[in-house]
Amino acid sequence: MKKIAAASFASILKGYMLLFSLTLPQGIQGIGVNYGTIANNLPPPSQVAKFLIESTIINRVRLFDANPEILRAFAHTGIEVSITVSNDQIPHLTNLTFAQQWLNTNVQPFVPDTDLIRILVGNEVLATANKLLISNLVPAMQTLHTALVGASLDRRIKVSTPNSLGILSNSSPPSTGRFRQGYDTHVIKPMLSFLKATDSPFMVNPYPFFGCSAGTLDYALFRPNPGEVDDNTSLRYTNMLDAQLDAVYSAMKVLGFQDLEIVIAETGWPTLGEAQQVGVDPNSAAEFNRNLIRHVSSGVGTPLMPNRTFDTYIFALFDENLKPGPICERNFGLFRPNMTPVYNIGLMRNMVASAADGHYRAFLLTIIVLSLISLWA
Ligand SMILES: *[C@@H]1O[C@H](CO)[C@@H](O)[C@H](O)[C@H]1NC(C)=O
Ligand SMILES: *[C@@H]1O[C@H](CO)[C@@H](O)[C@H](O)[C@H]1NC(C)=O
Ligand SMILES: *[C@@H]1O[C@H](CO)[C@@H](O)[C@H](O)[C@H]1NC(C)=O
Repeated sequence: MKKIAAASFASILKGYMLLFSLTLPQGIQGIGVNYGTIANNLPPPSQVAKFLIESTIINRVRLFDANPEILRAFAHTGIEVSITVSNDQIPHLTNLTFAQQWLNTNVQPFVPDTDLIRILVGNEVLATANKLLISNLVPAMQTLHTALVGASLDRRIKVSTPNSLGILSNSSPPSTGRFRQGYDTHVIKPMLSFLKATDSPFMVNPYPFFGCSAGTLDYALFRPNPGEVDDNTSLRYTNMLDAQLDAVYSAMKVLGFQDLEIVIAETGWPTLGEAQQVGVDPNSAAEFNRNLIRHVSSGVGTPLMPNRTFDTYIFALFDENLKPGPICERNFGLFRPNMTPVYNIGLMRNMVASAADGHYRAFLLTIIVLSLISLWA
């Protein structure tokens, strides 16, 4: 009797789980977001984690620090988490004892409960033009990796660093993409070698938003447009993101590293900006992010990297009301502090999924009540 109940329980559960998995938007396996916290109005991390796992298809987050409260909140959620060593710690991180201590403090207490997949050493370090940080960047990455090996965490956790497109001296047409001279052989090449040796991706922050003007708005937003032809390859580009990614690819190829995985660590579109900025409104932001998710998940790839998908982290989870700089910097968020979407782009688990979720809960509750009754009797 009990065995039969257990078997039918399992099969019903499987049925529900199948129904649940079928209701994600087609072909989209989930998407990453940047969880920035320069704000005074954000919900507590435990609520954010619960919201992401229950109500959205977001399955990866990147933090700009290693906030222990956030790391704890994502325990047992199945959401992949990347953390960041701040730029100012890079020179210290070349010291193995320091790197080991950093892991002891910021990583060891949270694994394996929290699915930490990556430690990012700084953010857009080459763009700082700070010689001390730049010269120590790759040695810091290597030392941190050595510390991970020592802690037997190197297979679970990879080391990388996000780069702005400012690392390119040339990007148009895409086939002529090159890394800045000086950085190319002294920093980027050793970085690419390290990433290849440790099976880690090269991470870039391409923002069509910052590269577009009134004339190229359709091209930047993935709208129908005539596109641009790269005369060197005769390949036609129909969106700016592809052109930016292929410029990075061309630059990597010149150094012999075209086979490295590329991760989009940041991209996005603001809903509010300065009066003279073109295409800055919720509709454009929704259009960019909706098309972005579809494009990077489609498997179409880019003209120079056909048939590929790109792990992508949208900037950003929330508007950050205390961020300095121009208005747009505070208005990249996908969600308001009360966790309602700023615009609808299919990140929410859809109605059928929520209904299935509801049935599933009612079903579990019934099983629990029934077993309590049978225990009682
Ligand atoms: C390396 O880091 C440890 C721990 O922070 C520190 O005690 C030591 O002085 C550092 N060594 C050097 C050479 O800076
Ligand atoms: C083609 O590529 C070369 C460098 O590889 C560059 O000098 C030249 O300007 C490119 N031609 C066009 C039409 O962009
Ligand atoms: C990409 O996929 C298409 C369609 O499946 C195929 O025809 C093409 O050969 C593939 N290209 C590469 C470079 O794998």
